[in-house]
Amino acid sequence: MRRLRLLLGTALFACAGVRAATYPLDFDYLEKAELSSAMRTLAESAVAVEAELRGVAAPDLSARARIVAALERMLSSARTLETQRPTNHPLLDANITAFTRDVEAAKAAATADPPSFFLAGSVSGACRYCHRR
Ligand code: HEC
Repeated sequence: MRRLRLLLGTALFACAGVRAATYPLDFDYLEKAELSSAMRTLAESAVAVEAELRGVAAPDLSARARIVAALERMLSSARTLETQRPTNHPLLDANITAFTRDVEAAKAAATADPPSFFLAGSVSGACRYCHRR
């Protein structure tokens, strides 16, 4: 179903001629550069989080602060993509809320007392809402 929506969306926009100016007002056109930059931040931050946790049983306070900061970068990037209106990326629209919720849960656990880093350690698993590997 997800794939079908993506294909339909692509076909529709290809026919319509992809131009920001031609979209109706209740539509958010995400520029490729904007999406790439948000994705780069997501990727770099997820790598940073997992690098902090690799082989570490209990991160110290400064490692914890770096982990939380990286999760926050992920959240603010994800939120730039989380519009209330449909975008030209139906797959993104369908999954961005679930992704944000997972990163929020990872941050909440990492900042809890006592902290848990289990969710942070598998945060790149949430990329699979939209990406297959
Ligand atoms: C809610 C959906 C969604 C999630 C979650 C998501 N992505 Fe993406 N990602 C996309 C879309 C849509 C594209 C653009 C694909 C295209 O060009 O058509 C993309 C593109 C990318 C790209 C290529 C960027 C470029 O320069 O063009 C990278 C790298 C990437 N994602 C990494 C990640 C990583 C790492 C995660 C998890 C931390 C992630 N993504 C999570 C939807 C998502």
